[in-house]
Amino acid sequence: MLRFLLRAAGLVALLPVGLGAATASQRSFGINYDKDYFLKDGKPFRYISGSIHYSRVPRYYWKDRLLKMKMAGLDAIQTYVPWNYHEFKPGVYNFSGDRDIEYFLQLANEIGLLVILRAGPYICAEWDMGGLPAWLLEKESIVLRSSDLDYLSAVERWMGVLLPKMKPYLYQNGGPVIMVQVENEYGSYFACDYDYLRYLQKLFHHHLGDEVVLFTTDGASKHYLRCGALQGLYATVDFAPGGNVTAAFLTQRGSEPRGPLVNSEFYTGWLDHWGHPHSVVPTNTIAKTLDEILARGANVNMYMFIGGTNFAYWNGANMPYASQPTSYDYDAPLSEAGDLTDKYFALREVIGRYNHLPEGPIPPTTPKYAYGRVTMEKLGTVAELLDDLSPSGPIRSTYPLTFVQLQQYFGFVLYRTTFPKNCSEPTPLFSPLNGVHDRAYVSVDGVPQGVLERGKSNMINITGKAGANLDVLVENMGRVNYGRYNNDFKLLNHERTLPFIP
Ligand SMILES: *[C@@H]1O[C@H](CO)[C@@H](O)[C@H](O)[C@H]1NC(C)=O
Ligand SMILES: *[C@@H]1O[C@H](CO)[C@@H](O)[C@H](O)[C@H]1NC(C)=O
Ligand SMILES: *[C@@H]1O[C@H](CO)[C@@H](O)[C@H](O)[C@H]1NC(C)=O
Ligand SMILES: *[C@@H]1O[C@H](CO)[C@@H](O)[C@H](O)[C@H]1NC(C)=O
Repeated sequence: MLRFLLRAAGLVALLPVGLGAATASQRSFGINYDKDYFLKDGKPFRYISGSIHYSRVPRYYWKDRLLKMKMAGLDAIQTYVPWNYHEFKPGVYNFSGDRDIEYFLQLANEIGLLVILRAGPYICAEWDMGGLPAWLLEKESIVLRSSDLDYLSAVERWMGVLLPKMKPYLYQNGGPVIMVQVENEYGSYFACDYDYLRYLQKLFHHHLGDEVVLFTTDGASKHYLRCGALQGLYATVDFAPGGNVTAAFLTQRGSEPRGPLVNSEFYTGWLDHWGHPHSVVPTNTIAKTLDEILARGANVNMYMFIGGTNFAYWNGANMPYASQPTSYDYDAPLSEAGDLTDKYFALREVIGRYNHLPEGPIPPTTPKYAYGRVTMEKLGTVAELLDDLSPSGPIRSTYPLTFVQLQQYFGFVLYRTTFPKNCSEPTPLFSPLNGVHDRAYVSVDGVPQGVLERGKSNMINITGKAGANLDVLVENMGRVNYGRYNNDFKLLNHERTLPFIP
């Protein structure tokens, strides 16, 4: 009915189905630079927001998590858009099921949460390659996150698909999206390419209109803001609890002398790496700093409000190489499973000092069941099951190919060669230049010999007869998501030579 009325009013092009604001033309969102606050519908506005990544929560649970966030007193949520999650192969897109970002935005809107959209192209996020698709590495010399022409043409194609989808969800068009972030923590990257940021700024305005509030986020230090901020993109900062809030916001003032104070990533916990204990950040430190931030009228986004899970192979890694585990719990106020925690109630209490807390019940923690013992049955070794695992058969090559050359972006690749001669004495098998990315299980005629691992073990001794099969099963443990080594090729070794057997 609403849709019909709007059509009659000639406004339908502005409003996707399900977005309910009949007065789209009166809705506005902007910045008041004289008074240092945001303007929503012409009135002063400050947001208290929390991060949730739709890619880390199954669609089935989106509504439950968003409701819990609403009930904590939040005005807004913040989410990243992982490019590689949607454009798995060049020009092949998926926006359905768990990837249905439009449905996610509609749910947020229905629940009464505004959205701060972090559209990339790069997002970091402890996500594989920081959200950049691995297939970008088909051009081996590509300079990611720069004015590299091949990089830009891929960005332009992707943004030409994503941003028109997002446009109807902008606040001024009747949707929940009040602000759109360009790139992410660009000041932490080595390239410092202002032309690239300018290019993105133009591209975003081209697709979203001139009215949209575009912003950047960088670490709260002069050093980061130098290359991360750009005239025309509102510069915000991120910083952790426990520090000097005044000093942190002073760094934002270095780039934005006037306008609202914004911490776009106020850390409620911290990320994990494999082999390290789960990160825990005490609630009282967070509650105290949150109170300080809110008391000075600043805007804040809590990163994460719910972390969720790195399903499949979507985790990233940091350098020196350390991959993140499947869990992205983050010690956030809502647990990985979406459960209410003491931290949730403590932060809700702080928020309640500044925002009206919604009436009504908070959705309860979901019941847990004991599923009993799970028994594992051995079906065979990788070598024995090759015909099932790789039905199209092997790819033959003189030199080992990278995962990207094989268009096998995730998981495992088995590299097989034969011994050129008898090695009856223990013979070293090297991984030159720390080149195994990331972990390799070595066997000879099916007999395990040892493991090579990036940054940990570059040499093992093997033995075998001339003609024996040398199998090196290489595991991609997640592409680096932060910093200069973002162009993380997965491969057997950097020199693309055969494993070295003297
Ligand atoms: C798209 O993504 C959804 C949700 O993750 C998945 O179920 C579906 O199989 C994908 N579609 C294609 C064509 O890959
Ligand atoms: C916090 O930083 C401000 C600005 O740099 C400074 O004036 C103040 O003394 C600092 N407070 C503390 C407790 O260090
Ligand atoms: C390898 O050793 C076997 C005996 O174990 C011998 O029969 C064979 O000729 C040797 N092959 C080469 C290439 O040296
Ligand atoms: C490899 O074998 C050589 C010669 O037997 C030995 O000196 C060396 O310690 C071994 N290295 C490893 C890593 O096992």
